Amino acid sequence: MHERMNIGTDPYVLPAPQTIVGSMLDGKPNFMALAWVSRFTHTPCLMGIGVNAKHATHRAILETGQFSINFPSVDMVNETDYVGLASGNRTDKSTVFKVHFGSLANAPLIEDCPISIELELFKHVDLETHSLFLGEVKGTWTEDRFMTDGYPDITKVRPLLLSMPDNIYWSVGEQKGKAWHDGKALRDTLKTKR
Ligand SMILES: Cc1cc2nc3c(=O)[nH]c(=O)nc-3n(C[C@H](O)[C@H](O)[C@H](O)COP(=O)(O)O)c2cc1C
Repeated sequence: MHERMNIGTDPYVLPAPQTIVGSMLDGKPNFMALAWVSRFTHTPCLMGIGVNAKHATHRAILETGQFSINFPSVDMVNETDYVGLASGNRTDKSTVFKVHFGSLANAPLIEDCPISIELELFKHVDLETHSLFLGEVKGTWTEDRFMTDGYPDITKVRPLLLSMPDNIYWSVGEQKGKAWHDGKALRDTLKTKR
């Protein structure tokens, strides 16, 4: 029997997807490493990111109303970490990545990232230290080599993951099941009317 213990209020989201947020800072691309990210709704398709108010990215998103969320592959650890160490407030990070643009002029998309998403700011909520920026997805960009049967394939994308507070980057492990499927037998066994 293991005793459960309350270890505080840090939620330990293990793992977090590691992303790079792109924005246009004073007319030039700027990038920051970002792990506090999630999808929230289907239609419109909204994604949220938590950005510290001191970051250059915070100002850029508020000024332009646009940003990108890029998913680096495990091969991009060094570049990803670098844009999390240097701030656009003091350093020009505009040439770290080759960029292209989709339909939004202020959402630079990273060519080397297997998946890049362009978003228009939908709503923002100012919190104590950070802001929650909710963006509406306007386009998701990838390449044929990252797809299988018309969809991005996790084994080809090879996304980068993060654990905190040990601050370690990880890769994805092996498949463990199938969603909306593997619980069916249990559902049928436990079927009880309210
Ligand atoms: C692995 C990693 C994850 C990070 N995740 C976030 C995050 O989710 N939110 C945030 O505000 N800052 C995060 N940061 C910190 C910013 O990336 C960092 O302060 C960056 O220099 C800000 O750049 P900017 O001032 O050009 O916007 C992270 C940094 C690293 C290294």
